[in-house]
Amino acid sequence: MAEIPAFLNDEYMPLEACQISPLDRGFIFGDGVYELIPVYDRKAFCLQPHLVRLARSLEQVHIQNPYTHKQWEGIVENLIRQSNCIDLAVYIQVTRGIAPRDHGFPENTSPTVFAMANLLADIADEQLQKGVALNIVKDTRWQRCDIKVIDLLPNVLAKQSALQAGAAEAIMVRDGFALEGSSSNLFVVRDGEVFTHPKDSLILPGITRDVILELLGVLGQKCHEQAIPENWLYEADELWITSSAKGILAATTVNQCPVGNGAPGKLWKDVYDLYQQRKFLG
Ligand SMILES: Cc1ncc(COP(=O)(O)O)c(C=O)c1O
Repeated sequence: MAEIPAFLNDEYMPLEACQISPLDRGFIFGDGVYELIPVYDRKAFCLQPHLVRLARSLEQVHIQNPYTHKQWEGIVENLIRQSNCIDLAVYIQVTRGIAPRDHGFPENTSPTVFAMANLLADIADEQLQKGVALNIVKDTRWQRCDIKVIDLLPNVLAKQSALQAGAAEAIMVRDGFALEGSSSNLFVVRDGEVFTHPKDSLILPGITRDVILELLGVLGQKCHEQAIPENWLYEADELWITSSAKGILAATTVNQCPVGNGAPGKLWKDVYDLYQQRKFLG
């Protein structure tokens, strides 16, 4: 396996050489935030919006941003340079740092910064041809899903229950509304119109979501950013899930019921094709 280049507290090193204290608050409390930046053809995709979201996540949890925008760009670029892979997923994590275990913020502790550049796996042909299965789960997350925090246990449990039901992704439902996936945003096509949950505190403001909205604009297709009743999932003509790791995938079953005619839809294909071009523009 190719070596995975990593970065830990101002030093570049192979992933295996990274050592982090068990007293790190990321380990002890899940006290940190993260980002995942896709890299296509060795060029980071939507780097600026990812860095803006990272800065916002840090600010929301009161961790001082350890680097300037320019410095973050340099770290991402160096990791890309050190990797042999063409398409990458650059993962960044910042925690509140190392301190004796106590809930209150420690004084005089600097954040732990970790990053690594992994291979970005291709999407399986079968998922593109046939679409993926979704499984509905109750959203048990907190009320600040807009912050990209590293505590992902509810997402992990949701995803696992979907996998056990033979599905590729879980769709989180709260108070009768379908919000997003365990690691993706959700789009619903209904009677020729597109819907996605608005950017509020109940979903992660996905960078791919924004790109898809932009591409829908190019196609002259209006998208309504509004709450989506759960039953719309069963009445949809098309369902899509979007994320930096997987781009845009069509979902063709939800809780084992076919979506539309049970095949990836025409609008998905049009948006998917545009996304394939867009992702090489950086
Ligand atoms: C809960 C959740 N929603 C949506 C997304 C998609 O966000 P992005 O398009 O920025 O990858 C993710 C990605 O990790 C996520 O974890």
